[in-house]
Order: sequence, then C-alpha cells, then structure tokens
Amino acid sequence: MDRMVVVGGHQLNGTVSTSGAKNAALPILFATLLAEGEHVFKNVPRLKDIDSTAELLESLGCKTQWDSDYFRVKVGKAPSLEAHYDIVRKMRASILCLGPLLAKYGEAVVSMPGGCAIGTRPIDLHLDGMRALGAEIELQEGYVKAKAKKLKGATFVFETTTVGGTENLLMAACLAEGTTILENAAKEPEIVDLANYLIAMGAKISGHGTSVIRIEGVERLFPSEYKIMPDRIEAGTLVIAGAITGGEVTVNQMVPEHIESLTHKMMDAGFKFQIGKDSVTVFKNQGWKAVDMTTNPYPLFPTDLQAQYMALMAVSQGTSVITETVFENRFMHVQELMRLGADITPKTRVAVVRGRPGMLKGAPVMATDLRASASLVLAGLVASGETLVSRIYHLDRGYEKLENKLSALGAHVRRVSE
Ligand code: EPZ
Repeated sequence: MDRMVVVGGHQLNGTVSTSGAKNAALPILFATLLAEGEHVFKNVPRLKDIDSTAELLESLGCKTQWDSDYFRVKVGKAPSLEAHYDIVRKMRASILCLGPLLAKYGEAVVSMPGGCAIGTRPIDLHLDGMRALGAEIELQEGYVKAKAKKLKGATFVFETTTVGGTENLLMAACLAEGTTILENAAKEPEIVDLANYLIAMGAKISGHGTSVIRIEGVERLFPSEYKIMPDRIEAGTLVIAGAITGGEVTVNQMVPEHIESLTHKMMDAGFKFQIGKDSVTVFKNQGWKAVDMTTNPYPLFPTDLQAQYMALMAVSQGTSVITETVFENRFMHVQELMRLGADITPKTRVAVVRGRPGMLKGAPVMATDLRASASLVLAGLVASGETLVSRIYHLDRGYEKLENKLSALGAHVRRVSE
C-alpha cells in the first residue's frame, strides 16, 4: 500500500486546475444504463471510484473505454441486472444503478452497500422512493431485489435531504409513466449536472437545483455526450492547501459559486480573495482567526470540506467549534490530527478546535476515509518536519494526482510504496 510523505514548511504559490467532479461523474455514468448505445463524456476524473464504476458497468454487460480525454460507455441490449457484493462493497455509490436498471428493465438485484467509516449511511429513502413509484422491493441475503412492470409517476417527499436518494429517484422517474414530483430534494450542483445529462438524453426535468424537482416520464432516452462539471470539493481542498501554507494560490477551471460557503467562511477568518469567472485566488495571509462552522446540505458548508477546514482551524488563532450535521461519525480525522499536535476535543457531532499557529509537528498518521486523508495531507503541509500518511488508497478514490498538483505549487510531497 502506498504512503504519502509530506515535508512541511513550504509555502504554496501559483495556479492549479481542478479535475472533473467525482460526485457528478458517478451518477452520470450510472445514468447511461437508461439508454442503449454509446455515451461519450469529457472531463471524467481518473480516480479509483471511476474504475470501480467502470468495473460495475462492465459486470452489467456494458463496455467502457478511455479514448484520450474522452470516456466512452457502450450500453448493450440486455445487460445483466445484478450488481454483485464484491464490486458494490468497494463503492457505496454503486447503489445508484438501482434506479436506472429498474426504470429501463423493470428489475434489479443490487447488493446492499454496507456501512462505511463516516456513518451507517442507510438507503431506506432510496427504497421508499422506489416503492412510491410502484416498485416491489425485497431485502434478501444482503441484496435489494426490486421489480416493477412499469414505474408510475408519483409525488415523493424525502424526510431527510439525500444526494444519492435524489439521484436514484431522478433517474428512475425519467422513464416512469406520468409525472413525478420529488420534494425536499437535494440541491447540490452534482444533482444539476446529472439532470442536465438526463435532459441531453431526452428526459423532461425541471426544478433541478431547487428542493422540488418535477419529472415528466418519457418512453425512451437516447445516448448523448456531456462534459462533467468541475469538482467543487477538490477546488475547496486546493484553496485550503494554499491558504494553510500562507501562500497565494489560484484554483481555476472551477465554479466559484460552488464553494461560496467556504470562501465566505474564510473571509470571516481574515483571508482575502479574488473571485474570477472560473477561478478563485486566495492571497497570502500570515495569521487567521478561528471561526465556527456547521456543515449542512448545499448551498451551506459541505460536509466533504469539514475535515479540510478543521486542519485550517488547527493552526488558526483562537478556538472554533465545528459541528457536523450530515453524518454521525465524520470525525475520524480528529485523532490523527491530534497525533500531529492539534488541540481538538471531539464530542458527538461537535469538535472544539483550540488553534495555534505553528503548533503542528510531523508524525506518522493513518487515513481513514477519503476527505480525512486530504485533511492529513493539508496538515502535513504546515507541520514542521515530515508527515507520513498511510492508507492513501482512500485519497486515490477522490483526488486525481493530488501530489502532482501540490508539488507543482511548491509543496514537498511524494508518494512511496510501503
Ligand atoms: C453523497 O453521499 C456524496 N457521495 C458524499 O460524498 C457526500 O458527503 C454526501 O452526498 C453529502 O453531501 C457521492 O455523491 C458519491 P446522502 P450520499 O444520502 O448520497 C442519510 C465524498 O467524500 N440518509 O446525502 O450517500 C445519510 O445517512 C462522499 O465524496 C438516510 O438516512 O449522502 C446521511 O446522514 C462522502 N437514508 C444523510 O442522509 C437514505 O436512504 C446524507 O446522506 C439516504 C441517506
């Protein structure tokens, strides 16, 4: 297994581009199951999770292929309708094949995803939504067995805002008979990107990006082409990488409004920014204040940037309170940051961070989940001495060549095999 060696104390300066959004590419690649033929995508990031999605699509009878900067998915006439545990266990987002298979073929057998480090992450709302559209759902031997002669449009209210649940229902409703209204739907930009691709395939959708999405079912969808949106979580991570080292970094090929909750929070802490059309520049800052933060669904502060923000607060001037409202156990990075000398008191869903500039010292630490691993690399950039981050396969799930991007900005980061 690879490790990341980070030598702290080097200021990051310069310009870096984000890759395509993992959390938009995953649902969009599963949406291809709704239409036979060849779909062509640009700006798909080269990540482990994309490889896992390709593996699952191939196990369902599709053909996937990188063709220079294009990623092609060929969907066959009668794919297999079973998503096996050995693939689903590697990536929870595999559950997103349920809606498309059910809508297109009237049947799907998908392994339950199982929990993960940041929480139990149930799929009850996905299944309740499919039942509302007329599907019969059974849970047997760890599999979701779903059947529906023809899904029927309905109104479904999500009792909890769920990104994956909204995506699964949005895809299923496209081929249902009649109109579907999704209420308390997630408003994340990745939902909008998925809806835009479904519309390019011929779906009739309105309200995407708001909490009420309306879908008029159609008879058939057709393969199309699409460019995946920029990854807002990577963009935010790179902004914090520049900021935490006191450097001036421009992150481009991104959508500034997608990370407005982060830039505004950092402005409260004393950072200065230049906001461009498709870029954000954070300016040099030798000291910043501690500012409380609470994670919430979009457009408020994203849970996927909580760990990275905590690293920034660990070396701020003062005490901040960080509240995680989306997942019940997303503080796995706290113990590891404390190994670097951070002064943090974790409680249930709340962490008190007593920040002090220059207080982090390099040490061996262990990544526990995707965003926690990013947080440890960021802390390593500013810790004195060497930080060794192990289990960085977590990082490779969601960041394309992060060490290359950081090194190009002046970081001393290298990957070593254990
Ligand atoms: C998506 O996960 C993202 N993953 C996550 O990013 C992100 O943290 C999360 O949305 C929240 O923004 C992808 O898009 C592939 P949810 P998802 O359903 O869809 C509860 C990363 O780092 N819930 O919005 O699984 C759930 O337990 C990953 O890239 C139910 O109770 O998240 C959680 O507490 C991590 N029942 C809350 O809703 C359900 O049926 C939000 O989860 C579904 C969800």
